[in-house]
Amino acid sequence: MCGIFAYIGNKEAASLLITALKRLEYRGYDSAGIGIHGVPLKVRKKVGKVSNLEEDVAHAGNQVSGTLGIAHTRWATHGKPSDINAHPHTTAESSIAVVHNGVIENNAALREQLSSKGYKFVSQTDTELLAHLVQDLKKQMEGATYTEVVATALRLCEGAYGVAFIFQDEPDLLIGARKGSPLILGVGQGEHMLASDASAIVEHTKDVVYLREGELVEVRRSGFKVSELHKIISSLGKNSWSPRKDAENPIVRLELSLEQIEKGGYKHFMLKEIMDQPNAMRNALRGRIYQPADVPDKWEIKLGGLEKAKEGLSADGISPLERMANASRLIFAACGTSWHSSLIAKYAFEKLAGVAAEVEYASEFRYRKPLICRSDCLIAISQSGETADTLEAIKMAKQHQALTIGVVNVVGSSIARETDAGMYLHAGPEIGVASTKAFTCQVVALLLMALRLGKQRGVLSETTLNSYCAALNSVPDSIEKWLAALTDQTRIVSKYFRLATNAIFSGMGIHFPVALEGALKLKEISYIHAEGFPASEIRHGGITLIRNFVPVICVAMRSDPAYEDMKQMVQDFRAKDAAVVVLTDDGNTDFSNIAHFTLHCPDTKLELQPLMCCIPLQLLSYYIADMRGCSIDQPRNLAKSVTVE
Ligand code: F6R
Repeated sequence: MCGIFAYIGNKEAASLLITALKRLEYRGYDSAGIGIHGVPLKVRKKVGKVSNLEEDVAHAGNQVSGTLGIAHTRWATHGKPSDINAHPHTTAESSIAVVHNGVIENNAALREQLSSKGYKFVSQTDTELLAHLVQDLKKQMEGATYTEVVATALRLCEGAYGVAFIFQDEPDLLIGARKGSPLILGVGQGEHMLASDASAIVEHTKDVVYLREGELVEVRRSGFKVSELHKIISSLGKNSWSPRKDAENPIVRLELSLEQIEKGGYKHFMLKEIMDQPNAMRNALRGRIYQPADVPDKWEIKLGGLEKAKEGLSADGISPLERMANASRLIFAACGTSWHSSLIAKYAFEKLAGVAAEVEYASEFRYRKPLICRSDCLIAISQSGETADTLEAIKMAKQHQALTIGVVNVVGSSIARETDAGMYLHAGPEIGVASTKAFTCQVVALLLMALRLGKQRGVLSETTLNSYCAALNSVPDSIEKWLAALTDQTRIVSKYFRLATNAIFSGMGIHFPVALEGALKLKEISYIHAEGFPASEIRHGGITLIRNFVPVICVAMRSDPAYEDMKQMVQDFRAKDAAVVVLTDDGNTDFSNIAHFTLHCPDTKLELQPLMCCIPLQLLSYYIADMRGCSIDQPRNLAKSVTVE
């Protein structure tokens, strides 16, 4: 995944481009570059973080002056990170420059054709091809506009792209297009921006247009025109393609403040996002769970996104919620952390809604021939809403006419748009690459959905539903009260484990996914090898890893039906001289003489307990990684959202 930003207006572009790249850096951080309009176009690019480029641009001074520019922060797919492979890529004379997020799958074939015509490639990237291809077509398509030429070039490319182009001979033209990668247009007064996500736009304007799949936008200082690539091509030569109507690409208002995307005094975004969880969860609950006035102890759940089908999708008048309630099975499809929240959801949906649920790695599901029926409901879970494998799983479900539901954080993202209905997390922007608050908000959203479905299916009595709602509603407050003390405790434990090379996380039942998530957080940000096991399952192999001083972090809640087994396993781990940390419920003294460290979680209902238990594990990973001096917000090799396959 890469980050794109482009600016056209009356302000000096270079510093705006650099600021935007810093906001987008979480999307890719192996190299960065900018291109500014001039004759020829002025390009600066540097391997490494955006700060390297910033220094270079500062030295370049007014050599990079101009009010139209494009910028890119890269996450290498074709060609290693280097100055040359960084974007923008240009033609030999620097007459056309392009930035690109995605992968051109037929790069090799197109490159060969252009090379045979004498075009010289200097980089190993697939993106460079786009600059040469546009130049070549411009020569061939006499009289064609750049919009027509770019559309034609993109129609020749297979794969995914979010692109932005500038041209030496067009000082008032910026062209963007997307297919498979996100692109948003920011609409200002006499200025416009293009960006791969809203965090780079919000400080300029809150009015945006979400470009849709296969659309191109022609942007000038005075305005913009959106059109579908295929329509531009079908009216080639007539110069008569009509832009889409405003209603088809409405200007929408961003609900995102600048403050939300800044670090707010924390050392890392990840820590800010961990600490922000009580608020994020409140936002995920707000308006969805409430007590009707004057009825004490009664709770209602209202999930607007499931109660009404998107326009044009409900010919039969049946709401998505009713379809879900009648589904023969739920299939959760997700990747990484979102896969872990899906596993938690499986337990909750089976118990609270009495419906069969399966959990699939989207990246595996799409390569099988899964048996999907019309009566199935596929629930796609994703923070970014752009994960390519998860999108593909949705497409497969749609081909079989199954209902598709999205549970997504990023508003207007591809998954939000591709699914029939869904819920936003309202977790706010998650900038740290390691997911924290999006994970807990996914669990909150899925619990709400499970409870609402349980009511719809008549599985939950009113009393049970009310007690779950009351408990869920109080989770953010319990976490908030606990966070300060927990932070101190986890910092102490982290000091002991900062030099570990391996760690085991263990939990049973609904706490097994919590163990998996704890292990994933630790390995992704601290680079310590970590594995999560269902506690008893460890006897079947993994137990060989348990020895002197190996940290074993166990989640052992008394409400867990497998608690006695878990307790037994903790004793076994200790007997093998592991360094045992137990996470258990408040007031439980069962581990006082067994564990090296015991962390106590506020009590709640079993299905809600993962919301509490994951927090100490996030903090442990964070402090261990910080003590090891790791690049916490941008771990090596890891992208925030994997938009390539
Ligand atoms: C881990 C992490 C990743 C993502 C995964 C799916 O902290 O963030 O494992 O969970 O790449 O991404 P989304 O949720 O955006 O589909």
